[in-house]
Amino acid sequence: MSGPRADTLVLFGITGDLARKLVLPALYQLAARGEVTVPIVGVALSTWNDDELHQHIRDAVAAVGPIDEAVLAKLLARTSLVRGDYADAATFAELAQHVSGASFLAHYLAVPPSLFAIIAEGLTAAGLAGHARLVVEKPFGHDLASARDLNVRLHRCFPEERIFRVDHYLGKEPVQDLLVLRFANLLFEPIWNRYHVNSVQITMVETYDVADRGSFYDTVGTIRDVIQNHLLQVMAYLAMEPPSSALAQAERDEKVKLLSAVRTADLADLVRGQYTGYLDTPGVRPGSTTETFAALRLFVDNWRWADVPFVIRAGKCLPVKALEVLVELRRPPAMLFAAADADRPPPNLIRLGIQPHAGLTLHLLAKQPGAAEVTREIPVSVDFSQALGSMQEAYEHVLASAIEGDPRHFASEDTLEQAWRIVGPVLDRSDTPVPYQPGSWGPEQANRLAPSGCWYPVGVTAGGPVLTTR
Ligand code: BG6
Repeated sequence: MSGPRADTLVLFGITGDLARKLVLPALYQLAARGEVTVPIVGVALSTWNDDELHQHIRDAVAAVGPIDEAVLAKLLARTSLVRGDYADAATFAELAQHVSGASFLAHYLAVPPSLFAIIAEGLTAAGLAGHARLVVEKPFGHDLASARDLNVRLHRCFPEERIFRVDHYLGKEPVQDLLVLRFANLLFEPIWNRYHVNSVQITMVETYDVADRGSFYDTVGTIRDVIQNHLLQVMAYLAMEPPSSALAQAERDEKVKLLSAVRTADLADLVRGQYTGYLDTPGVRPGSTTETFAALRLFVDNWRWADVPFVIRAGKCLPVKALEVLVELRRPPAMLFAAADADRPPPNLIRLGIQPHAGLTLHLLAKQPGAAEVTREIPVSVDFSQALGSMQEAYEHVLASAIEGDPRHFASEDTLEQAWRIVGPVLDRSDTPVPYQPGSWGPEQANRLAPSGCWYPVGVTAGGPVLTTR
C-alpha cells in the first residue's frame, strides 16, 4: 500500500523548534547521502528573509555535526519560504502558486497539534490535498475522544492511506529490528509465548528533566508523552503475531490486532511519581499532579500472552538514559545440578537493548569451574553497532518514508485509537504522585509491579557495565 513518491516537501513550521532540532538535520543527512533531493517549501508565520532562513538551517545542521558546505549549499538552493498565517486562505493561495509544478506533495506538519486540522482544511480549500499526503507529528489527540475527533476532521481532507502519523520510535532502527529479530530467526518464536515467558519489562528512562517544556509537559505527563505512543508501539512489535506478508498493511493489521487484545489499564496496576523540584519548573501549574514517572502493568488477553505481565516504566530525572526490553523466561522445572536446599538458579533473561546501545544479551547459566555442581550466570552479548556499523537517526527514516510514501513506520488511526483506549483510565489522575529524588530510580512503590518484586537492572550490551537499579 505504498503511495506515490512526493516530488516536493512542504514543511509547515520550518522556523520552529522541532524543525530546527530534528527535521532539518535529518533532511541534511538525507541530502548528504543523495537520498532526498526534492525541493523544500517551508511555510511559517515569519518575517524572515531568505538569508535569515538559510542561517536558521545552517545553525540547525551545525548543532548536530560538521557541515559539508557543498551539501548545505545544494540544500539551501532548493529551499524556499512561504510566509503567512495558517488560518489565512491567502497563505495557501500563495503556497499553491509556489508548488504549481509539483505532481505529488508531502505536507509535513511540524507544528502544534491544535493546527493540524486547520492546516489540512486550508490545504483542501486551496486544492492542495488531492495529490498529496499529510504527515502529522505527535501528540495525536489528548485522549480517545479528541483523537477520534481529529481523525474525523483530517479524513474530511485526506483519506487514511494518505495520512502519516509520526511516532519517531517507529523510525528507530533498533525498534524496527525487534521484528527482524523475532521473525528472521527461528530461535525466539518457539519460546515467545506464555509457556516460556514469565514477564516482559520495558524500561525507558531519561536523565534530563522537563527543562523548558514545562507548560507542554504539565498538560501531558509521562503516560501521554511516551507510553501511549512510543512504548505501546514497542510493545506491539514485541508481542504481535507474524504478519501474513511483507506488506506494510499486513504489519499494521497485526499491530492493531495485538493492541486490541491489550486489556484496558487498571488503576491498581499503576504507580505514578513526580521528581522533587518539578513544581518549580516554569510553566508548571502550582500543586500540579502531573506525573514525571509512571510504571504500568498491562496484560494481553490472547492465546499467546494470557497472564504474562508486560510491565512498562518510564520517567524523567532518572540515573541513565536507556530504552531496554527484558524478557524473563520461566525457571526450569527441577533443580538437577545442586543440593535440594540450594537457592533456585535465576531464570534466563533475554535483554534487548534499544538505546543508547542496540544489542542483545542472553543471560545463560553455566557450570562454575571446580568440583562442585554450581551454576553461574554468564551474559552473552552482542552490540549491534559494533557488529553491523552505525545506524541512521530516526528522523532520517521518518522524512525519507514520508517522501517515498512508505507507511510502514507511521502509526495508523486504529493503532492510535487502541492505544488511547488502553491508557484511558490512568490519564489525568488528581491523586498526588509519589515524590522521588532526581537521580534515583523513581518511587519504591513501582517495585510491586515487577513480577519478582524488583525490576531487573538496566544494562548495556557487549560486556559494558551493568547499571544497577535497586
Ligand atoms: C518525545 C517526548 O516524544 O520523546 C520527550 O516528548 C522524550 O519527552 C523523547 O524525551 C524521547 O525520544 P528519544 O528519541 O530521545 O528517546
